[in-house]
Amino acid sequence: MEKILVIGCAGQIGSELTLELRKLYGDENVVATDIKPASKEITEGGPFEILDVLDTHRLFGTVSRNKITQIYHLAAILSGNAEKKPLASWHINMESLLNVLEMARELNLKRIFWPSSIAVFGPTTPRVDTPQFTVMEPNTVYGISKLAGERWLEYYYQRYGVDSRSLRYPGLISYKTEAGGGTTDYAVEIFYEAVRNGHYECFLSENTHLPMMFMDDAIKATIDVMEADASKISVRSSYNVAGISFSPKELAAAIKKYIPDFQITYNPDFRQAIADSWPKSIDDSVAARDWGLKNTFDLKRMTEVMLKGVKEKFQ
Ligand code: NAD
Ligand code: SER
Repeated sequence: MEKILVIGCAGQIGSELTLELRKLYGDENVVATDIKPASKEITEGGPFEILDVLDTHRLFGTVSRNKITQIYHLAAILSGNAEKKPLASWHINMESLLNVLEMARELNLKRIFWPSSIAVFGPTTPRVDTPQFTVMEPNTVYGISKLAGERWLEYYYQRYGVDSRSLRYPGLISYKTEAGGGTTDYAVEIFYEAVRNGHYECFLSENTHLPMMFMDDAIKATIDVMEADASKISVRSSYNVAGISFSPKELAAAIKKYIPDFQITYNPDFRQAIADSWPKSIDDSVAARDWGLKNTFDLKRMTEVMLKGVKEKFQ
C-alpha cells in the first residue's frame, strides 16, 4: 500500500496532481501539504496539513506519522519571482530538496518526485530541439537551483540508492489554479484576459517561442515516470519533456479563431531576457523511448479546452 505526501499541493501543479493521485491511490492515502491553505476539493477530499518544507522537524514528523512511502515535492520559487529575491529563492529551492532527499535516505522511502525545468538550459545551449544531454549554463537563479537539484538527485541515487524521478517541465498551461510566478505564465494569463477583457498586454515579445505543455499531459507524464519500472529509468538527473512550442503571436492567433475581436499588445519586461536564454523547442525522445512519454494536446485542442475552462470559471 503506497502512502503519498504531496508538498506544495496548493500550487498550479499540486492542485491538480493531488486530486489525480487520490483517484489512483485512494483519498486517505494521499497527504496533501502546503505552507498556505489549499482548495476545498483538496482540504475536504482527504488529509491536508499546513507544512513548511524547510521545517525539517515537522517534515520528519509528518512523514513518519503517516508512514509515507513516496513524496512529490513541488514547492519552489519559480523563475520570475526568483529573480526578485535570488538568495531567498536559492535557499527555498535547494534546502527543501535536500530536506526531502535526506528524509528519503534516512527513512528508506520508496520513491521521490521532484520537478526540474527547461530553465536548466541557458544561452549557450542549442535552442532548437534541445537534446537531453547538452551544454547547460543557466543564468537565472531558478535555473541554477534546478540544475544543482538535478545533480543532487543523481548524487543521492548513485551514493545512497535513493530512487528519485524527475521531469524538466516546459511551461505548463492550465486553468484550475493560477500560474505561480514564472516566465511562461503569459500563456495562462492570456486566456483569462481574453475571456474577461478581450485584450492582453504580453510581457514577452511576439516571436518568443517557448516549449509548453497542457496540464493533463504533464500530470500523466509525472505519474507515468513515477510508476515506471526502475529498469526503464536511464536518466537519474531529469528527463526532457515537451509538448508543443509556440510564440505569443501564434497563441493569440489561435485564440482569435474563437474570440475574433481579441487584441494582443506587447510590452516586454525583465522576463524577456529569461525567455531568450531558454530553448525554443525540446527533444524529448529519451523519455519517449524509456517509459513511453506521449503528448496528446496540440495548440488547437489546448486553446479550446482552456477557453472553455476559463469561461466556465466566470459563469
Ligand atoms: P506554484 O508556485 O504554483 O506552487 C508551488 C507551491 O509551493 C505553492 O502552493 C506554495 O505555497 C508552495 N510552497 C512554497 N514555499 C513552500 C514551503 N516553504 N513549504 C511548503 N510549500 C511551499 O508552482 P507550480 O507551477 O505548481 O510548480 C511546482 C513545481 O514544478 C516547482 O518545482 C516548479 O519549479 C516546477 N515547474 C513548474 C512549471 C510550470 O510551468 N508550472 C514548469 C517547470 C517546472
Ligand atoms: N514555467 C516555469 C517558469 O516559467 C518553467 O520552469 O518559471
